[in-house]
Amino acid sequence: MSNDVLIRAEGLCKYFKVSGGRTLHAVENVTLDIRRGETMGLVGESGCGKSTLGRTMMGIYRPTKGKLIYDGKELDLHSKKDRFHFAKKAQIVFQDPYASLDSRMTVGSIIEEGMVIHKMYDAKERQERVARLLDIVGLNREHANRFPHEFSGGQRQRIGIARALAIQPEFIVCDEPISALDVSIQAQVINLLRRLQEEMGLTYLFIAHDLNIVKYISDRIAVMYLGSVVELASSDELYSHTLHPYSKALLSAVPIPDPDKEAQKTRQIISGDVPSPINKPKGCAFCTRCPVACEQCHQSVPPLQEVRPGHYVACHLVQPGQA
Ligand SMILES: Nc1ncnc2c1ncn2[C@@H]1O[C@H](COP(=O)(O)OP(=O)(O)O)[C@@H](O)[C@H]1O
Ligand SMILES: [Mg+2]
Repeated sequence: MSNDVLIRAEGLCKYFKVSGGRTLHAVENVTLDIRRGETMGLVGESGCGKSTLGRTMMGIYRPTKGKLIYDGKELDLHSKKDRFHFAKKAQIVFQDPYASLDSRMTVGSIIEEGMVIHKMYDAKERQERVARLLDIVGLNREHANRFPHEFSGGQRQRIGIARALAIQPEFIVCDEPISALDVSIQAQVINLLRRLQEEMGLTYLFIAHDLNIVKYISDRIAVMYLGSVVELASSDELYSHTLHPYSKALLSAVPIPDPDKEAQKTRQIISGDVPSPINKPKGCAFCTRCPVACEQCHQSVPPLQEVRPGHYVACHLVQPGQA
């Protein structure tokens, strides 16, 4: 593994036990490297396992199978010490800025909490840091004494970002951080995240279902379907040489800003519903909805393989050298 990789998931699986003794396969065999300082976009329909993968990669969930390698070292996720240490490196910004901040705590104590847990700084330094963090995310120092309900959605998301930054993490999972915000506010929060990344050298896993946004912010993008990564490439490559039938359908649903081009575009509608992650199809997970599926697709799971330089696809019909 080259040392520009900050975090690597290797064969990562996360299953949940659900009613009737059944098992829900939320994340299935995901291998993914995220490089230092990069933004890895993660897209896919609702329920495909994006949040579960994000939470497993930052240690909120313990994987059912597979490994996490951080800074070249495999994490022992059963060791409390390793988990605590990792918790200081990895943070999350949640989708819903209304639900994710404790309404009984002041903004200052919300931002300070992680520093207290990790025994960072003395009380006076923590107060100073809270004030600095409020400056950094574009709020006022006086806001430290107020409560979350006094703020708008965009301001709350800034508080959530300040909280994530407080313990100086290296890796941040941004789980649809702007989906719940007004369109007019979305760009401000995205620009803030980009600026912070540059200034602090942060590494992001940026989850979204809006493909326009991931394209803008991501260096590389992973497309997920029913728990697995089906395509992975740099943003430009993914948009200019889309190869997986599912990614093609997902991208064809994104409006093109040019009305002439938009009118000429052929829209691919994927038929059928996403199968249940409790009862996944045999073979390729996408075979039940794929317009080009053949016999082999119903028999065996296609591996994710490099078909063009840096471009990985899991599809029996897209082979190296032919793409
Ligand atoms: N704590 C949980 N217990 C049981 N099932 C869960 C849990 N969290 C997520 N799931 C299920 O796992 C699948 C993936 O969910 P999620 O990771 O939230 O998807 P996404 O973020 O892409 O919308 C869904 O079928 C969801 O219902
Ligand atoms: Mg989610």
